[in-house]
Amino acid sequence: MNNLSQKRILLGVCGGIAAYKSAELVRRLRADGARVRVVMTAAASEFITARTFQALTGEPVLSDWSDDRTGMDHIELARWADRILIAPATADSLARLAHGRADDLLAAVCLASEAPLMVAPAMNQAMWRHAATRDNVELLRRRGVQICGPADGEQACGEVGPGRMLEPQALLQALSDAFCSARLAGLKVVVTAGPTREPIDPVRFLSNRSSGKMGYAIARAAREAGASVELVSGPVLLDVPPGVQRVRVESGQEMLEAVLERITDCDLFIATAAVADYRPAKPAQQKIKKPVADTSLQLEPVTDILATVAALDHRPFCVGFAAETEQLEQHAQKKRLRKGVELIAANRVGNGRGFESDDNELLLVWEGGTCWLPKDSKARLAHQLIEKVASLYPQRSNKQISSEYHAKHSA
Ligand code: CTP
Repeated sequence: MNNLSQKRILLGVCGGIAAYKSAELVRRLRADGARVRVVMTAAASEFITARTFQALTGEPVLSDWSDDRTGMDHIELARWADRILIAPATADSLARLAHGRADDLLAAVCLASEAPLMVAPAMNQAMWRHAATRDNVELLRRRGVQICGPADGEQACGEVGPGRMLEPQALLQALSDAFCSARLAGLKVVVTAGPTREPIDPVRFLSNRSSGKMGYAIARAAREAGASVELVSGPVLLDVPPGVQRVRVESGQEMLEAVLERITDCDLFIATAAVADYRPAKPAQQKIKKPVADTSLQLEPVTDILATVAALDHRPFCVGFAAETEQLEQHAQKKRLRKGVELIAANRVGNGRGFESDDNELLLVWEGGTCWLPKDSKARLAHQLIEKVASLYPQRSNKQISSEYHAKHSA
């Protein structure tokens, strides 16, 4: 499975003969849909030019402090990255990382970044075996740095042994695997996304501004966490996330039916769709023509899909969204209890926030806790939400949830 689409990969290139392979790695990452930016050390430019990486990434390449035009570019890069890979990572660069140095641009970016770090060592076999390198690698490993390789074999210097950088295909796979957390492995997840369209006549409908981006990001994050994911989607122009099964629907009623068909063996239900609350009571069979005698539109309620699923006897763990213009936490808490769900992700909407945007911010509300996820891309927020869901999920069985729900609602 390709987990790399839209992922932001910062590639650090150090001075080693294997640097030429990094160009091929960038090409493959781009082919898999990743966004790539490159930081080179001064020594790397002895082996490959910045122009090569610039042409392959379509982005400026930074190599020394004079490339940091604003003085803050290295911080911006550190925040931008979803993951940092240093390939090739020389013995010197491993030593610098181990000691927290920040006197070259690449080391400074690594120190300033909270993104997970991977390194692909490449050096002479004796340098790799040296006690100093062993200690540095061990220290980095203990700090959570993922060490990829090195491979054994014939080296550029003519010696044979460990120290060859892994091939681009192996590094690509390691990066892709790194985005798959397995936190939801073995679970079936159903996600609703997008707006619904409630017909007035065959050509007109009532709808809303939902872009579906949050729901699609969540479906993708759940898949990357190892779940099997079915996405019940209203009409949006978004690509199906890799590995996700999508079913398209139009109206709230169709969405309800598609969800109920899939819910029996489902472990987790995440309702992100902006389902219409009301629909025209009597949609016309033919196009309504002018002049119209009665210009008012009679509406009737649309079934609440989330509340319906949460009220089932054998129900999945339920997560809902709350789109609010005011009193975020109060409305979110009330909505959680009213709908009988485990977790509500609340966000402010209106004035350009929430709908149609690539960014969002969320307040997560569950029984006994809240947590604020500050403004970030919907893709990253989706991962954080899935992490939270995964941490809450095993604490409660279906039976528990069901009896609590009935106790609450029969009171
Ligand atoms: N929802 C749903 N079916 C509906 C309406 C809403 O499944 N017919 C789900 C949404 O997907 C979301 C949650 O319920 O997860 C809350 O949606 P929201 O529009 O914020 O709230 P409403 O229930 O519509 O309440 P209100 O309009 O009063 O805020």
